[in-house]
Amino acid sequence: MKPVTLTTLKEMKRRGEKITCLTAYDYSFASLLDNAGIDMIMVGDSLGMVMQGHETTLPVSVADMAYHSRCVARGTKRALIIVDMPFMSYQQSPSHAFASAGRLMQKGGAQVVKLEGGAPMAETVRFLVERGVPVCAHLGLTPQSVHQLGGYRVQGRETTSAERIHQDAGVLQEAGASLLVLEAVPAELAKSITAELDIPTIGIGAGKDCDGQVLVLHDMLGIYPRPSPKFSRNFMQGASSIEAAVKSYIAAVKSGAFPGPEHGF
Ligand code: KIV
Repeated sequence: MKPVTLTTLKEMKRRGEKITCLTAYDYSFASLLDNAGIDMIMVGDSLGMVMQGHETTLPVSVADMAYHSRCVARGTKRALIIVDMPFMSYQQSPSHAFASAGRLMQKGGAQVVKLEGGAPMAETVRFLVERGVPVCAHLGLTPQSVHQLGGYRVQGRETTSAERIHQDAGVLQEAGASLLVLEAVPAELAKSITAELDIPTIGIGAGKDCDGQVLVLHDMLGIYPRPSPKFSRNFMQGASSIEAAVKSYIAAVKSGAFPGPEHGF
């Protein structure tokens, strides 16, 4: 069982094979996802909401991320582990970001770190990458900016914001990002960004044409007590076990059956 690396993912993009990703925050779920054959496990700062019960991801700390990431790493043999840099751990300066990323890699077993934001984050992305830290960028609906965005809403619907997201994607790739998460953006925008970039795009509410898909585990299992976003699907419906639901998600992403038009914008 060969571990998934960034090279594997680039090769998958080249072949047109869809990349599967789910979030996980603990040993048991990470182990289940890994055994089911998921390509990437994302230790998202969504853990602030689904594990800790906060209204937003903002209260999550580097220590929280390192703790959950360490638990996930113990259960993961094959999948690539991506870990979110939480709010306030990277925005201040590139060297502060490097210190936070170092903690997530050394103490949490992160293989790639993810940070939110467009062109203003390019200098930080470059700083990290030049020092051996692989980076996943995140554009569109960036939950750490929820108050600035005025809620969890689709981004890139108007021409100017679509153009900005498009340009930012190119700038982040140029700065050295290895992956790009596109969250809650129109499917057409995600399609053209995906076609233009060499690095894989991972969509969540961004249509079927991204190179891969990610969902929050608690949404796709239907176990989050608050309403789930329109772009998610409850894979437990009709499934006989959690393992079956995860395998059905993987099969649906690989075949292109998920997401459908009803999960996009
Ligand atoms: O925090 C998270 O879980 C995420 C993804 C779902 C993209 O950022």
